[in-house]
Amino acid sequence: MILRAASRVGIGLWLMLAPACAGDAPARSPAEVMDILMWNREPVGGPFELVDHTGHISTERDFRGKLMLVYFGFTYCPDVCPTDLQAIGLAMDRLGSDADNVQPLFITVDPERDTPQHLADYVPLFHPRLIGLTGSPDAIRKAADAYKVYSAKVPLGKDRGDYTVDHTAFIYLMDRNGDYLGFFPPGTSADRMVEIIRPHLAK
Ligand code: NI
Repeated sequence: MILRAASRVGIGLWLMLAPACAGDAPARSPAEVMDILMWNREPVGGPFELVDHTGHISTERDFRGKLMLVYFGFTYCPDVCPTDLQAIGLAMDRLGSDADNVQPLFITVDPERDTPQHLADYVPLFHPRLIGLTGSPDAIRKAADAYKVYSAKVPLGKDRGDYTVDHTAFIYLMDRNGDYLGFFPPGTSADRMVEIIRPHLAK
C-alpha cells in the first residue's frame, strides 16, 4: 500500500530533482535510486554509526525493539524537510503512549553545516523525541547509500560556499529489528502514518 501511494506521488517529486552536481556526485542517479526503492531491488537500511544531537555516538542497535522512522534531510531545507518533520512529530503525538515504541530519526545529508549543536537547536522544534544524527561526510554517505537516498550539493548563485542540497525525501519505516518495512512519500499526512504504523506496533 505504501508503494502504491508512492508511485503516484513519488514520480513527480523525482522529476523535480536536479541532476547530480560535480564535486559531490553520488554514485547513483535519482532514477536508479527510485527504481531500487519502488521494486525492492536491493535491501534498504542497515548499520550506521553516527553522532546524535547531544554529541553521543549512535548506531542502529540503539533502537532495537522500537520501530524506526528514518528521514534524511538538512536543516537549511526551505520547505520539504520541515513539512515532513512536522508530520512525523504530529504522528508521534497522535500515537499517544504507543509512540514510546517508535523512534523518529533525522539524518542530515549536510554534515558540513549540520553539526550536533546545530541539530540540537533544530530537532526539538518538531518533536521532543526526534533525534538528529550527523557524522563525517563518509559516515553520512554510507548511511544514505544504505537507505538508497539520493543527495547532492548544489551551489547557489555566486556567493562563495553557499549551497543547497538536492535530496530525496522518503520517510522509511523500519521494524523492531531494524529491517525495512516500506516508505512514506514526501507529503504523507500524520494520520496516514499512524494508520500504517499501528498494525506494526501490535506485532
Ligand atoms: Ni529537504
